[in-house]
Amino acid sequence: MASTISFFTDLSKISKILSRMTCPIMKSRFVHISPVSYHGEYEWQDPKSKEEIVSVTVINKDGERISLTGKVGDNLLYLAHRYQIPMEGACEASLACTTCHVYVNGKHLDALPEATETEEDLLDMAPFLKENSRLGCQIKLTKDLEGMEIQLPKATRNFYVDGHTPKPH
Ligand code: FES
Repeated sequence: MASTISFFTDLSKISKILSRMTCPIMKSRFVHISPVSYHGEYEWQDPKSKEEIVSVTVINKDGERISLTGKVGDNLLYLAHRYQIPMEGACEASLACTTCHVYVNGKHLDALPEATETEEDLLDMAPFLKENSRLGCQIKLTKDLEGMEIQLPKATRNFYVDGHTPKPH
């Protein structure tokens, strides 16, 4: 966990240094780089206040309940990676797979924004599809999702070779 945080910190520093570089010939800024956000970087940051906290419970394939402390704005997929929950996310949230398939239990399903057509199309290809199926990478935490219960399906369509375990980004 520490090495991942250090990796992101180093990249942020490099980004800031590059954005201050000046081209001597053109006497102007050489490059302009906006602060970069890496996949899952935000989810590795702890909530800054109690008001930001969104608690989520994940029930894994073995029926084990795992409590996650997320925050407003967290992407469920990357928050799950922070807690080493095997929600794969093969396409890194670019809506091109179904490996982040989850079930949203109870009332919180209605608190989510409607699935887009693309998400619906992908879900149609997901094994073990249910009425409450959603793609985890399309769920952004809000206060309305406090106490949300997520369940992992028995299996997902896996684009990686057998035995691959996703690592946090
Ligand atoms: S990670 Fe591929 S669609 Fe969610």
